[in-house]
Amino acid sequence: MTTTAVPSATSVLRTAFQKSVANYWNLEKDPVNIKLGEVDGLYHHHYGLGPVDPSVFEGPDETRDERMIKEMHRLETAQADVLLDHLGDIAPTDALLDAGSGRGGTSIMANLRFGCEVDGVSISEQQVAFANGQAHERGIADRVRFHFRNMLDTGFETASRRAIWTNETTMYVDLFEAFGEFSRLLAPGGRYVCITGCSNDVMGLRSKAVSRIDEHYICNIHPRSQYFKALAANNLVPISVVDLTADTIPYWELRAQSSVATGIEDPFLTAYKEGSFHYLMIVADRV
Ligand SMILES: C[S@@+](CC[C@H](N)C(=O)[O-])C[C@H]1O[C@@H](n2cnc3c(N)ncnc32)[C@H](O)[C@@H]1O
Repeated sequence: MTTTAVPSATSVLRTAFQKSVANYWNLEKDPVNIKLGEVDGLYHHHYGLGPVDPSVFEGPDETRDERMIKEMHRLETAQADVLLDHLGDIAPTDALLDAGSGRGGTSIMANLRFGCEVDGVSISEQQVAFANGQAHERGIADRVRFHFRNMLDTGFETASRRAIWTNETTMYVDLFEAFGEFSRLLAPGGRYVCITGCSNDVMGLRSKAVSRIDEHYICNIHPRSQYFKALAANNLVPISVVDLTADTIPYWELRAQSSVATGIEDPFLTAYKEGSFHYLMIVADRV
């Protein structure tokens, strides 16, 4: 099912853009990711969903920040749960792909929920080593493996995947190339779930706030329309599209008040509230 050769950096990182993205994630040690991950050992590099528990703002001042960190982590884990809820019926015998797997949180949650095999790919060697360490610590390294590979050319077998997801990673890739590879990897009837930020075509060209997000993360946020064109071009048929924007705003408002705010909170809140940016989940089937 899984090929084992370790690819070289030059074969994985094919463009100057990919090298700069890999460099960003190799060096990244943002407390907003590390401190939240330390809460329970699930490390996420994505945003949160759902209402904030108001008890965070009660209790002693000295422990307020600690309560905020735990709450942000809870909301980020809730986001991954929403993604996993849409993968369909997954059996322990199924193999899944986490395309752009970060420090591995969502892959580990998928294995804990379904008992299935998961391969995660990332172009950051540091993240891959970290995530494999997490799988070892949990004793699931035989079922959850992370690879230094490019999601545009994973090397995995054709039709080997029951489901694939991208959790905030598609802004780093050409959608036609990525969905072409996912379409190849999915078994007929297999499921693709994407959670992403995308710009709003209805507002015309990208807003200043969206450009600031691109600059901050060295990414290229795509317009909403591009997702559906690229899915249609690759035999991926949407079954559900959910606008998660209103559900993610409380997370950003909480994060803006926390000690781990990075400065990108205002552009996100501006972009969401002015309507130039959406937080979207797209669920599609391979036909
Ligand atoms: C915002 S993080 C999301 C990580 C993870 N999905 C999560 O939810 O925690 C973006 C991830 O995309 C990965 N990435 C970017 N471009 C990639 C590519 N071409 N192939 C594989 N991974 C890529 C980065 O290395 C990083 O792990």
